[in-house]
Amino acid sequence: MKTFAIVMGVMLALTGCNESGPGSDDTLFPPDGGPDPRTTRDLGPNPTPAYPSTPEYVQHPTSVGAASVLRTAAGDAAVVTDPYRDRIYVTTPGLGDEVAVIDLAAGDEPGALVEDAAGRVHVALRRGGALVTLAADLRSVAERRPVCPAPRGVAHDPASDQILVACSGGDLVRFPAEGGAEVDRVFVDGDLRDVIVTESATYVTRFRSAELITLDDAGAIVERRAPLSATVNARPAPTSILPNVAWKTLALPGGDLVMLHQRSVSSPIDVDPRTGGGYSGESIAPGCATSVVQTSLTRFPPTGIAELRPGPVLQGVALAVDMALLEDDRLVIATGGSGAETTHVFPLSAATSSSPTDCLDPLARVPGGEAVAADGAEVLIYQREPGMLSRWDASPFQNMPRMWLDQERSIVDLGHLKFHEVTGVGIACASCHPEGSEDGHTWEFQGTDPRRTQSLLGGILSTVPFHWSGDQADLRAIMTATFEERMRGGPVSDGELRLLGDWMDAQPSIPAPETDPSRIEAGHEAFVAAGCADCHSGDQGTNNESVELEGFGAIQVPMLVGVSHRSPWLHDGCAQSLEETFDGACIPEHAPASPLEEGESQAIVDYLRSL
Ligand code: HEC
Ligand code: HEC
Repeated sequence: MKTFAIVMGVMLALTGCNESGPGSDDTLFPPDGGPDPRTTRDLGPNPTPAYPSTPEYVQHPTSVGAASVLRTAAGDAAVVTDPYRDRIYVTTPGLGDEVAVIDLAAGDEPGALVEDAAGRVHVALRRGGALVTLAADLRSVAERRPVCPAPRGVAHDPASDQILVACSGGDLVRFPAEGGAEVDRVFVDGDLRDVIVTESATYVTRFRSAELITLDDAGAIVERRAPLSATVNARPAPTSILPNVAWKTLALPGGDLVMLHQRSVSSPIDVDPRTGGGYSGESIAPGCATSVVQTSLTRFPPTGIAELRPGPVLQGVALAVDMALLEDDRLVIATGGSGAETTHVFPLSAATSSSPTDCLDPLARVPGGEAVAADGAEVLIYQREPGMLSRWDASPFQNMPRMWLDQERSIVDLGHLKFHEVTGVGIACASCHPEGSEDGHTWEFQGTDPRRTQSLLGGILSTVPFHWSGDQADLRAIMTATFEERMRGGPVSDGELRLLGDWMDAQPSIPAPETDPSRIEAGHEAFVAAGCADCHSGDQGTNNESVELEGFGAIQVPMLVGVSHRSPWLHDGCAQSLEETFDGACIPEHAPASPLEEGESQAIVDYLRSL
């Protein structure tokens, strides 16, 4: 189906928003007179227009970081993937005044995309499990090829004329660019994100561990690198910071790569609100607007670590999810935080600094965010809500006419907004729970033992009480302790709390990687025989009870849905593999009462991977 949206040459004046969503108390737009989260902030010279009419509300339990923008070389059009509305938008050549819409199936979640040498555009469907290739006129889908349950990055390899797809489950799959079945599949490692092909090598990144992996022609791993960790001289004590969550990695013209990633504090953090504790990063980088989760960049040479330098703290940048390079070596970095959807421009030299606490100011900040493409000296920014594509001439930054991508359907959702709200200390729930999941980081909050961040995917509300030790009775308790006290967010109304809960609870877990069905069956039998199901019972694999573990106190039985996607495991991140969770190495009591027979352990792992 095709529909067209008209360019908004003239911006609509901002008026108090008086559309109201379905139901009065369930209002998704703020009620009459209430502040509209979309319009109360300073939007600079390019304000968000109001919808011309009341749009239909589309539900989208999807977190930020999947939407992508591409400026095609062949047709000079813009192609935008919208995972919230399950659509692909294509402008006419030369960014003309019409936008064509390609509707995908509900829940397909289009994400990364790439153009091949012949001008074909290929899009990874993150939940649809497929690679779609658009027809030559970019107005419909020409081919849909199954890849894996959770595709992530895509790249074109000009030497073989193949499309490479990196899967969250760990596979790297190759397809002929011109169409047809897959030609190669290798398992690299779990949690893959981007795939990048340069003249010298093929690289993949891992999302939460922020690793950059170099592959040889056969797909074998030849090098693993990661941004540097650091210990900085903070007050009152030296503080260690570990790199994690690699949102986006790009190849630079000379063969170097630049990674946009987070860094999280791994030393004890004072979280006592009475003594001013919390998630501020003030003690690490004094005077810098940052938190215990910082945004940084790392520049990698094609091989080796000798030249690696720490990146600085990008001042005032939180939840940075996408990045593009302008031809004059400026990086355009888009953020996905609500209340702060801003795109920041930094010099490429920002990817290296003399100290990890250098605090770098952007060259420019422009309104709108989440996904970005750069073509020469022009920037295209996708904005989630209202669905818009803004154009900026980058020298100097000047806005050009914006395009409505969708003026019939709205995805505004106060639950989504709350989860992505960047608070006064520059942190959002999604900073530690990227894509609604977890950052792979083990935190040390003073007064508590080490705690790995918990994933929130797969239906969280029915697993109350919350936290590893079950010390938070409900979401209200979390919003008081975490949001209001530690994150210095404002008070949360009952309505917001309910909408946040609804939104979080609707987030599905990442589809399980493919596993041999006969092995899953055998694994389930072994799982039950070993007594695992006594605690890990029901649809989510938890009875929601606490177990007294020697040396660790009471720990809640975690749900097992999506467990293969959340390494390292256990409350303190001790287990590096699924097997280590139940072989007694980390927790002696958390092991089968009688030793497993040969093959049973592997069968249980296969079963766990299928959940
Ligand atoms: C600084 C990192 C950080 C931030 C920011 C953060 N969380 Fe968490 N979250 C964690 C960690 C760590 C845990 C486990 C804590 C524990 O067990 O003591 C957790 C646990 C949770 C749980 C419990 C899950 C379960 O299965 O019991 C929920 C719910 C949750 N967080 C929601 C939120 C929400 C909502 C926000 C924003 C208001 C938020 N978190 C912000 C790190 C964070
Ligand atoms: C007595 C209740 C109980 C039994 C029986 C039990 N578990 Fe657990 N399981 C737990 C608790 C409690 C934890 C959390 C422990 C921790 O993190 O310290 C856990 C954690 C796990 C985890 C890690 C989840 C994560 O998110 O890190 C896996 C995987 C797991 N169990 C699998 C199994 C398997 C397989 C068996 C059977 C061999 C089993 N469990 C038997 C209570 C139980």
